[in-house]
Amino acid sequence: MFLQIATLLALLAIANGAVVPLGLEPQSRQVGRIVGGTATSIEDRPWQVSVQRSGAHFCGGSIISNNIIVTAAHCLVSPSTASNLRIRAGSNKRTYGGVLIQVAAIQIHEGYNSATKVNDIGVMRLQSKLTFGSTIKAITMASVTPSHGASASISGWGKTSYGGSSSATLLYVDTKIVGRTQCGSSTYGYGSWILPTMICAASANKDACQGDSGGPLVSGGQLVGVVSWGNECALANYPGVYANVAELRSWVLAAQNTV
Ligand code: ARG
Repeated sequence: MFLQIATLLALLAIANGAVVPLGLEPQSRQVGRIVGGTATSIEDRPWQVSVQRSGAHFCGGSIISNNIIVTAAHCLVSPSTASNLRIRAGSNKRTYGGVLIQVAAIQIHEGYNSATKVNDIGVMRLQSKLTFGSTIKAITMASVTPSHGASASISGWGKTSYGGSSSATLLYVDTKIVGRTQCGSSTYGYGSWILPTMICAASANKDACQGDSGGPLVSGGQLVGVVSWGNECALANYPGVYANVAELRSWVLAAQNTV
């Protein structure tokens, strides 16, 4: 009788919002999939490439012309060298299909700082030119920073949960732009880590994750961001952080002629 009353009181306490005992937590906070993603065909994201080092996918990238790929600076630093990098274009599978092309040269933003991730952008020149078609196309770089709350999407073959495994098939998620000011405000946990050249995007339980770096954040049909960093993946108080293409576009336009 006493035990039954104790059980009843415990259940009433839970119903009234008391801390839920371990094992009864809702599973909604899982950081799964990108994180939260849906499989997509390469025809829907023909600017997306897989960047491969020594034969294995490790970053994403975006086609901006028939021989230039934009990616993150942190994908191009040591141990990456032009000679150990190749890109796969025209396939939604990272291990087969489309074309695999050797990188001829790389250029990292001179202002990139590996500690702060400021200016996390770089370009690769391909050894042979891509042939554009339904599965391989360039994307235009945005010249205006997208506004806070704008719809955007991200894609890649990265991990489907923090510490999980990479996706064999290209995944995408819809997300929303979080402006730089808002991203560095007390609404989220980053504070002064958010610097000029960065922009954020967030959506509940959806995010980029490890292996998506360098890949595209697209809004209004234009490249607005490059996957850069985040605290784990899909944590509620920590948006994904991207290199802001509108602010870095002039660097890319110059670099594509010198790389
Ligand atoms: N730096 C990671 C990479 O190398 C990308 C992390 C993105 N994280 C995030 N939570 N949006 O692939």
